[in-house]
Amino acid sequence: MIIEDNNKKNDKIALKKDKNPDLSANSIVSDEGYEKNIRPLNFDDYIGQKSIKETLKISIAASKKRNSRLDHLLFYGPPGLGKTTLAAIIALEMNSSIKITSAPSIERPRDIIGILMQLKENDVLFIDEIHRLNKIAEEILYPAMEDFALDLTTGKSQSAKSMRIPIPKFTLIGATTKAGALSGPLRDRFGMIHRLEFYNVEELSQIVIRTAKILNFEIDLNGAIEIAKRSRCTPRIANRLVKRSADWAIVKGNGVITKEIATEALNALEIDECGLDSVDRSLLGIMINSFDGGPVGIETLAVALGEDIRTIEDVYEPFLIQKGFIARTPRGRKVTKLAYEHLGYNFSSSQISLF
Ligand code: ADE
Repeated sequence: MIIEDNNKKNDKIALKKDKNPDLSANSIVSDEGYEKNIRPLNFDDYIGQKSIKETLKISIAASKKRNSRLDHLLFYGPPGLGKTTLAAIIALEMNSSIKITSAPSIERPRDIIGILMQLKENDVLFIDEIHRLNKIAEEILYPAMEDFALDLTTGKSQSAKSMRIPIPKFTLIGATTKAGALSGPLRDRFGMIHRLEFYNVEELSQIVIRTAKILNFEIDLNGAIEIAKRSRCTPRIANRLVKRSADWAIVKGNGVITKEIATEALNALEIDECGLDSVDRSLLGIMINSFDGGPVGIETLAVALGEDIRTIEDVYEPFLIQKGFIARTPRGRKVTKLAYEHLGYNFSSSQISLF
């Protein structure tokens, strides 16, 4: 069973493992529902991240043989690569329930205590954005992870009493876009740490075809490849672009997502052949036009672009670095020759000397 702790609404959504999820297009009632329908529910359906999958399968098989819970796990990498999906698959493979929450929603000590006390033996607790956990919550988590106990204090000063309450043995799966922002003691308590990689075009094409099939959209191979190429190496984006291309196919074409339809739809969304969107191009353009290509500090860039630092660091930069359009140097970020060429700017000799 999957129980999500929705940050804002605080409602709980249960998804039964033994019931086949309704995968028909009619079942799409919202983006959230849509996301759930297309999420793979087992390792065979989960495309990409091959070596992580193999390692996880071994660990799961071993813990089942030992009849013991799975060790705590940390997934890190850019957003949209499938960290939550993997956590849900692990829980299903372990025949466990998963409780999904995110660190920013854990504000007070009683939030994390409440979550831990509700867990049952072998449950999976998934904490997204775990690097944003506050210090107090983190300290409550240490004995919970290590000794499966809560160390609580009641009363104040002289009359203060501490007590240790046992909790069921559980598996914590943490997810973060920034492994480096995790404190050492927290990081050390994870038995397995995996970095999710960006996806290649072949993997993304398979994901696009799978998603289109689930949603009853017709797509040809070249249409799938076109969407894959423009998806920032990220399944979440690929899935979104499938929907947008399907809209275009219905309104402007004969319902089939072909290469031409996908190209027109994505051009209209200002997503170029490399997957760069208008924000990526603004970011590179500002660096080129206002800062001579860099180096420029992240704070300055955030102000110039009107985006917050975290969004630039977590969402935009990893892909631009992966594509070789931005380089990080000790003095700040620089635009590479490749980016100048891609955007049609002249890469002058003065800029060459900067590299
Ligand atoms: N949807 C999102 N991520 C996926 C993946 N890795 N495999 C299949 N479908 C997905």
